[in-house]
Amino acid sequence: MNAAFDAQAGSFDRRAGLPAAAVEQIVSALREVCPDGLLLELGAGTGEIGSALIAAGARYTGLDLSLDMLGVFHGRTGRAALLQADADRPWPLRSGIARAVFASRAAHLFTPERLVDETLRVAHPAGAVFVLGRVRREGDSLRAILRRQMRRLLAGHGVAGRGGEEARSLLFSAFAARGGDPLPPRTAASWPVLERVADSLASWRSKPDLAGADVLPEVRHDVLERLAAWAEQTWGTLDFTREATESYELAAVRLPVSEETS
Ligand SMILES: C[S@@+](CC[C@H](N)C(=O)[O-])C[C@H]1O[C@@H](n2cnc3c(N)ncnc32)[C@H](O)[C@@H]1O
Repeated sequence: MNAAFDAQAGSFDRRAGLPAAAVEQIVSALREVCPDGLLLELGAGTGEIGSALIAAGARYTGLDLSLDMLGVFHGRTGRAALLQADADRPWPLRSGIARAVFASRAAHLFTPERLVDETLRVAHPAGAVFVLGRVRREGDSLRAILRRQMRRLLAGHGVAGRGGEEARSLLFSAFAARGGDPLPPRTAASWPVLERVADSLASWRSKPDLAGADVLPEVRHDVLERLAAWAEQTWGTLDFTREATESYELAAVRLPVSEETS
């Protein structure tokens, strides 16, 4: 079980759901990047993307530690092959079966060494890809500014946050060192958002981690209180709003083909 994600399974899509049109575009971009065959999704969550992949005809298996997140996924489509398992332990899958291993908004939560070892183990010997998906925000968006300040506050408590960019660069270097070939990242979808300071603060209050780090409740409370005070001082009110654009980026690594099949 994964207590933190179990607790937010019912509200995850409301807090962090992607626009339906974006999900469709992400699915077609994924189908272009991934060879035909089994696609394994790590941290599949509530199945927003996974269920759309299945509807589009993909051969799909989703793995997640949180039974409650998987319960929401199952409610979306009873047809999904779902595994409740910890991505930080050996994966309950045969070697060489996956043509694609995909992680959306989750890779920063996993241990990189295990992720790389297990991806290479389950990768099909005739060729496979590892694909990382994440939401990107403009550097001057309210959420990005707040996040940078949150990381400063976390650093004051000796906590180093880890975001999507750090996870990507670490993983891709590790795959490259094992013969992987990183492909240029591509934007699969983008959409307009109306950002409000109070909404970002509320969403972090209901999230299990802060900037990808597990933090003690008292640290979390202190950081979020100080962040709210800083935001009020900076923008005059927590109701401050601004338009911005969010996008969903896919970055892939072509995994090495095994000697016997090349
Ligand atoms: C931020 S959610 C992303 C869900 C989905 N991929 C998406 O983009 O909507 C992260 C997911 O990773 C799962 N997760 C976190 N740690 C995990 C672990 N060690 N093993 C497997 N799943 C894990 C959580 O339960 C959660 O469903």
